Amino acid sequence: MYVCICQAVTENEVHACIAAGAKSARQIRDSTGAGKDCATCVRKICGILKRSEELVATA
Ligand code: FES
Repeated sequence: MYVCICQAVTENEVHACIAAGAKSARQIRDSTGAGKDCATCVRKICGILKRSEELVATA
């Protein structure tokens, strides 16, 4: 499923980016391009980041 329509970035790509060490929406934007056009997806990316941080905290 696409997170960023403008740059055709999928949720899996965002997860891969987080797994590779990305800690902020800016780092995800720099490596995938997600969020650099209309920025509508930035909120979704922040949500994915937050959930992954919660998963790490409870693991
Ligand atoms: S949907 Fe991501 S920049 Fe537009």
